[in-house]
Amino acid sequence: MSHTEADTGTALDALIRSPFARLNTLLAGTQPGADPILFSLGEPNTPLPPFVGPVLQEHLAAFGKYPPIRGIPALRDAICDWLARRYPEFEGIVDPNSHVLPLNGSREGLFSAIFPARARRPDLADPVVLIPNPFYQVYAAAAAAAGAEPVFLRSGPETGFLPDLDAIDGRLLDRSVALYLCSPSNPEGAVASPGYLEKAIRLARAHDFLLFADECYSEIYTDAPPPGALATAQGATGSLANVLSFQSLSKRSGLPGLRSGFIAGDPVFIEAFGRFRNVACPQVPLPIQYVSAAAWADEAHVERARAFYRANFDVADAVLQGRYGYARPDGGFFLWLNMADFGGGERAAKTLWKGCGVKVLPGTYLTKSQGGRADHGLDFVRLALVHDAETTREGLARIVATLD
Ligand SMILES: Cc1ncc(COP(=O)(O)O)c(C=O)c1O
Repeated sequence: MSHTEADTGTALDALIRSPFARLNTLLAGTQPGADPILFSLGEPNTPLPPFVGPVLQEHLAAFGKYPPIRGIPALRDAICDWLARRYPEFEGIVDPNSHVLPLNGSREGLFSAIFPARARRPDLADPVVLIPNPFYQVYAAAAAAAGAEPVFLRSGPETGFLPDLDAIDGRLLDRSVALYLCSPSNPEGAVASPGYLEKAIRLARAHDFLLFADECYSEIYTDAPPPGALATAQGATGSLANVLSFQSLSKRSGLPGLRSGFIAGDPVFIEAFGRFRNVACPQVPLPIQYVSAAAWADEAHVERARAFYRANFDVADAVLQGRYGYARPDGGFFLWLNMADFGGGERAAKTLWKGCGVKVLPGTYLTKSQGGRADHGLDFVRLALVHDAETTREGLARIVATLD
């Protein structure tokens, strides 16, 4: 049978379906039992940083110009200054001309980077892309679009919700184009240690694939700032080869609508990605670049955002008290709660919507089913603690009252 567009669509649809579309289908026809509280979508509700309006206004006329794909110097400088402040290993190392490229949000880069990543390994006849499981859907979409087989790496409770790097078959590593690694992870909030990151970096170099470190939640944490892949590479090996970090203003600065992020790391790949982007990817609009430069230069609004999420996790500590396997995550703003005692994630999502108007996302919608014990996502639900502390308290209290 020849391939048709419809075949491709079917195969893609089987691999990646929007978790939110699936949730809508699950809850269609079910009325919420109370005024809805939506914990399903990870959309920050932190106050708009005060400089956004004025900077945008000042540079409004620049919407009339095509922006440079590699970003204006002010943005690249602000990003590099931020990297050097956040990761002392970078002081004096990171170069605005060779280490960074702006992105229209990290998702766009996580997708488009797979093409030059695939192109740098023309020797691979049957390439694979390594993806944690559960996973952020764009990783699988990228693998599929680049004609590489997505290989899902179980990331369950027994390995601290990160893939077991020692368990990956060497032959698979040899066929790998890239490993996506999310830390702090969505949905579990697991943070990769420097030792873990170093192991991933050494594997990437030994087998010549790229480590794509998705670090868009790195600025949301309770105590210690999560280690970064680039700083680990620089600190432990004195090189950024094979390592790329994806960053975003969506979570750090509460600006998901700005669509602004960056990729930084291996200058050889950044150069190739820059050439690819120059013909294939959208530029970041100039006024958005100016706002982004201001956002990377400012930490006060980020401190306020961290305090906002800390207050929500304080509420979760007090209300959940260890129920549903809850432990305060190391980073990010999600709860990943075990609903095995309530019929699993889908059943619990329906129970909670119907019983108390609380919308949560079944973990199975973020997990590729691998059969047997790999299906741990089935048991879980994800909650994004993106509302104010009062709404968070109300929502979590409703959940406890409904399930108890
Ligand atoms: C794990 C992860 N990576 C990347 C993104 C993309 O973020 P953005 O494109 O807004 O930077 C998200 C957004 O929810 C995410 O959860």
